[in-house]
Amino acid sequence: MVHFGERYLSARKLVIAIDGPAASGKSTTARLVAETLGYLHIDTGAMYRALTLKVLRAGIPPADAEGVGRLLATTHVALRREGEVTRVLLDGVDVNAEIRSRVVTRAVSAVSRHSSVREAMVREQRRMGSEGGIVLEGRDIGTVVFPDADLKFFMTAGIEARARRRGEELRAGGIAPDMSGLIEEIQERDSLDSAREVSPLKKAEDAIEVDTSDLTIEEQVRLVVERVRGVVEGTDA
Ligand code: CDP
Repeated sequence: MVHFGERYLSARKLVIAIDGPAASGKSTTARLVAETLGYLHIDTGAMYRALTLKVLRAGIPPADAEGVGRLLATTHVALRREGEVTRVLLDGVDVNAEIRSRVVTRAVSAVSRHSSVREAMVREQRRMGSEGGIVLEGRDIGTVVFPDADLKFFMTAGIEARARRRGEELRAGGIAPDMSGLIEEIQERDSLDSAREVSPLKKAEDAIEVDTSDLTIEEQVRLVVERVRGVVEGTDA
């Protein structure tokens, strides 16, 4: 595990942004970095997924901006930390498992592109991060949510590595993955997320690009934590 001295934990609380395409290693890295630093971890993708689940359950077509906007007005999405686990609550109910389903994954980009959705989510994410001491991961954290974040990372990985990782996750959940289908789904989601008008997936100019294709999780975490150490030491000096 990465060692990080007490001194750093008590120092200035940073805002750390981790963006990148689907299955690039953001979530695991963000979670472990937050754990190492004693920071809060916000998986913003989980928030978009929770809303998507509600849209699907309500029978609203994901592309229907008005319908989605109306539903949004009566929807409450929250992330609650319980020990090691962060629970995703949709109107007070834990939906952590359901939001990872294939139907939600397939519809989430279409729901996330509406400007009403982005405004509501970004407002909530800024509120959660206002005190610092937070690692946020998503697509637009370094560009839109926290353009002044203390540190920004943009994680990438080759499509094979990303599909392999997503396949392992599915297998761990008892689902046999169809690898060529997975590659197609990941590519399609990336192109929808990158092509949308509002807050597209894009590397912030000042983000540090990390290609995780050949890195272990521990190496990814170490890389981020060492950068944090550099910033904290720099501001302490
Ligand atoms: O599958 P993966 O963990 O890589 O994706 P995710 O982080 O759970 O995000 C799911 C979807 O939510 C993305 O494909 C985007 O459409 C959307 N999203 C977004 O638009 N903005 C964010 N900040 C985070 C996610």
